[in-house]
Amino acid sequence: MALVSLVYASRVDPLVRSAGDVGAILESARRHNTADNITGMLAFNGYYFMQCLEGERKAVNSTFRRISADRRHTDVTLMSIRETAKRSFGSWAMGYVPDQEATRQLLLKHGESDAFDPLSIPAENLDQLLIDMSRSLSVALVGCA
Ligand SMILES: Cc1cc2nc3c(=O)[nH]c(=O)nc-3n(C[C@H](O)[C@H](O)[C@H](O)COP(=O)(O)O)c2cc1C
Repeated sequence: MALVSLVYASRVDPLVRSAGDVGAILESARRHNTADNITGMLAFNGYYFMQCLEGERKAVNSTFRRISADRRHTDVTLMSIRETAKRSFGSWAMGYVPDQEATRQLLLKHGESDAFDPLSIPAENLDQLLIDMSRSLSVALVGCA
């Protein structure tokens, strides 16, 4: 069965403002993803989300459809979907990357703008950005999933 990796970015709805709101999203994401054998990471900076979902193609597709319909974000934009031999976020039912200096530096390195606008990241830089993010997760957020 094909293992796929999907990345999208979206604009945070003004309804989502507090850490508690994101906590509720992560709680439900981790609960479903554990059951569906989906791993990945979610980055948030108050304005944008960027998320990577990894797993069996059918499970990733139905999860993405559900997420796309969620009113806690808008302008859900698919950035990449590809088959992959190995998961980048295999230990995380949904690793969380908050708005922090290290993340801003990674986005500056790989993006074309100095704001955290995931939609400005050129497609060819996306894989390396995700690899760098998975490394910073393993250093900074062990046990977070
Ligand atoms: C930015 C964002 C990321 C989300 N990520 C996931 C996810 O990885 N997996 C998932 O099942 N639901 C995710 N959700 C939640 C779904 O949209 C949906 O609310 C949830 O799956 C519904 O399940 P529940 O009613 O049992 O909580 C996400 C929502 C948002 C706004």
